[in-house]
Amino acid sequence: MKQLVIKGKKELNGEIKISGAKNSIVALIPAAILSDEGATLYNVPNISDTKSLIDILEVLGCKQEYRDEVITIDTSNMKNKVIEENLAKKLRASYYFMGALLAKYNYAEIYFPGGCNIGTRPINFHINGFKKLGAEVIIEGNKYIFKADKLKGASIYLDFASVGATINLMLAAVKAEGKTTISNAAKEPEIANVAELLNSMGAKISGAGTSEITIEGVKHLKWGKVTVIPDRIESGTYIIAGALIGKNLKVSGIIEENIEALLSKLNDMGVDIKKENDSIIVSKPKEYKAINVKTLVFPGFPTDLAQPITVLLTQAKGTSILEETIYENRMGHVPYLQKMGAKITVNDRTATIEGATPLKGAEVVATDLRAGATLVLAGLVADGTTKINEIEHILRGYEYIVEKLQNVGADIRVVEE
Ligand code: EPU
Repeated sequence: MKQLVIKGKKELNGEIKISGAKNSIVALIPAAILSDEGATLYNVPNISDTKSLIDILEVLGCKQEYRDEVITIDTSNMKNKVIEENLAKKLRASYYFMGALLAKYNYAEIYFPGGCNIGTRPINFHINGFKKLGAEVIIEGNKYIFKADKLKGASIYLDFASVGATINLMLAAVKAEGKTTISNAAKEPEIANVAELLNSMGAKISGAGTSEITIEGVKHLKWGKVTVIPDRIESGTYIIAGALIGKNLKVSGIIEENIEALLSKLNDMGVDIKKENDSIIVSKPKEYKAINVKTLVFPGFPTDLAQPITVLLTQAKGTSILEETIYENRMGHVPYLQKMGAKITVNDRTATIEGATPLKGAEVVATDLRAGATLVLAGLVADGTTKINEIEHILRGYEYIVEKLQNVGADIRVVEE
């Protein structure tokens, strides 16, 4: 069993380059199979979620080559196959093959998706949207079957601006006959990245990145290409690391407008931030002000950074309140931060943090991806040694996290237990 071991209180200085976005690549790989020829994806992060999706491509008979951050996917000989449980449950985003296979073959068979255990995470908006496009949906045990004579464009309104439903329905509608509109669509930047790939193949999608997306169905899709956008959550995680224990830590290769909510909150806390082209230079201030944070859909404060920013709130003098509005169960990190000395009380989806409390190293567990990143941040600023178990959650989403942090002065390593 692998464990991350961190000796805390080492100042971070130097440069961390941000990788391609996990939540883009996990949708871009399924989107690529819509092409009749294939696609080239650039700036692909080397994370375990990428590898899990490549395993699914192989089952579908796609030839692929992944080298030097570029994946080339050849779909010319692909076949529609059942996506079995062992592959589907490795990650949430396996569900994008539902929309993509349904669009391509009018038929898809796929087991329930997996992903972090942070709430019930139903997919009713996806299912209702597929039905509106003309698909029949059958549930057999843990498997979904989707079938249609042909898909037809439709007007779809989402009760909640779900990232997953927006992307999945965009994929399903790309080849449907006529026009589809998705209203109250999610506006996360990863959605525009997926539309960029599809449009490069010849799809006719407009409005991706706004709350109203229009898709005119097309018959054929040629070779596509796209560059994966920088990961805004990875960017935010390292900027928070710099705010905790950085001295001119440079986080480079970011898109500033995608992390504005975080930068604004850090500014309110009194963190020293300089902006330089596509980089942020961040240092630990003398003291932090307590603030309130409420998670919202983009461009609001991202739920994926709510756990990481909690560590910073433990270092702020006074009472901070963090309200999570997207998921019911995103507080898995709290018992471990408490074990490290944090004063946090949780009431339903709201955490109240009393600071400033020094943190001390402890043996902890990464209960999900962002909880794991949070414990890494806590370990960096804690006195003594922190040992993190179940680190495979972290490796699902942070490319070369150990090397990146070592390069800027952290004492962090992976040990085999
Ligand atoms: N929801 C429903 N029904 C649906 C779909 C969603 O009730 O059919 C609810 C969910 O249960 C949740 C809320 O709507 O309470 C938001 O869900 P959304 O569909 O937007 O999230 P997602 O697509 O499952 C993606 C990211 C998450 C990120 C959220 C919000 C991927 C693979 N995952 O999840 O990323 O938190 O959007 O931005 O893109 C992470 O990276 O750690 C992570 C969990």
